[in-house]
Amino acid sequence: MSAPIVLGIETSCDETAVGIVRGRTLLANVIASSVEEHARFGGVVPEIASRAHLEAMQPTIKKALQDSNLTLKDIDAVAVTAGPGLVGALLVGVSAATGLALGLNKPIFAVNHLAAHISVDFLTHDEPLDPTIALLVSGGHSSLLQVDDITTSITKLGATMDDAAGEAFDKIARVMKLGFPGGPAIDALAQTGDAQAIDFPRGLTTSNDWQTRPYDFSFSGLKTAVARYLEATPDYAKANVAASFQEAIVDVLLLKSLAACKATGIDSLVIAGGVAANSRLRALAIQRCDKAGIRLRIPAPGLCTDNGAMVAALGSLMVAANRAPSPIAFDADSSLPVGVISLS
Ligand code: KG4
Ligand code: ZN
Repeated sequence: MSAPIVLGIETSCDETAVGIVRGRTLLANVIASSVEEHARFGGVVPEIASRAHLEAMQPTIKKALQDSNLTLKDIDAVAVTAGPGLVGALLVGVSAATGLALGLNKPIFAVNHLAAHISVDFLTHDEPLDPTIALLVSGGHSSLLQVDDITTSITKLGATMDDAAGEAFDKIARVMKLGFPGGPAIDALAQTGDAQAIDFPRGLTTSNDWQTRPYDFSFSGLKTAVARYLEATPDYAKANVAASFQEAIVDVLLLKSLAACKATGIDSLVIAGGVAANSRLRALAIQRCDKAGIRLRIPAPGLCTDNGAMVAALGSLMVAANRAPSPIAFDADSSLPVGVISLS
């Protein structure tokens, strides 16, 4: 018998995304983004996102079925992001997924967006995902997690005390007039810059911080330092600022991730979330993990930013582990804690 087919729906932010997997095989991954509608506001506008999800939901499901040569009848289970995210946006996906599960009389898994970001790696690498340390870095979240079982047990070791890593990229890109979202723009610009040109601060890395907050992050000091530098240096070299800023973020993210691996004795690191698409983070992670003897896994860049495949992947892991589905009536939770992997 072939593995169950799971359709996953993601609408937590500005991507209406549907993925379909069979076991660990990706069959379709369709994304309709409203990012261009938000660009002129410099950030995601919740009302615009919800409306765009409503318009895109049906065509995106249809396209995913077409791409995988399946019909709705072939779907064995439905998975959907129940949170965290923008509540109005989440509700569109939750309504669609609930309707599908009810209509098809199939189980539904209401899952956590953050756990889904980590789960997508299951589609790429063969061996079991857990136990592992996970560095989750997106536009809304930055945390270090201990994943003992991706379907039941994720423990938060630390998190950002102010901005998320992606948010810091977006804000600095905005000051430098590089457009939204800022991460890819800074990544591209940094390719031609000197990462050692400016010594920007590494947040929460004093010896006292290592004692009291070893796995927490702070990017607000870095943001202020960059803003001050730009003000004080009218003819600044854009590429050098981008590269040096990026280096400061990436350096701290990896210092703390490797420290978590060492302290827990877990010699595996998964890096997930939109910022995991960053080329410098990927390159430096390979170098440092190689040196430390840590097994590193980072999903392909296209699977790091929000997508439906990651939700389908977590649904598929739930099915494979024989986890109980969610009740058909559940609420989207805009601030769902990372430890709640699926709603029961
Ligand atoms: O995971 P994601 O798609 O959405 C959230 O759940 O937030 O992450 C989006 C974030 C944005 O802040 C974006 O600037 C950042 O990921 N990002 C990047 C790169 N690609 C996306 N940051 C740095 N370098 C990149 N190449
Ligand atoms: Zn995300």
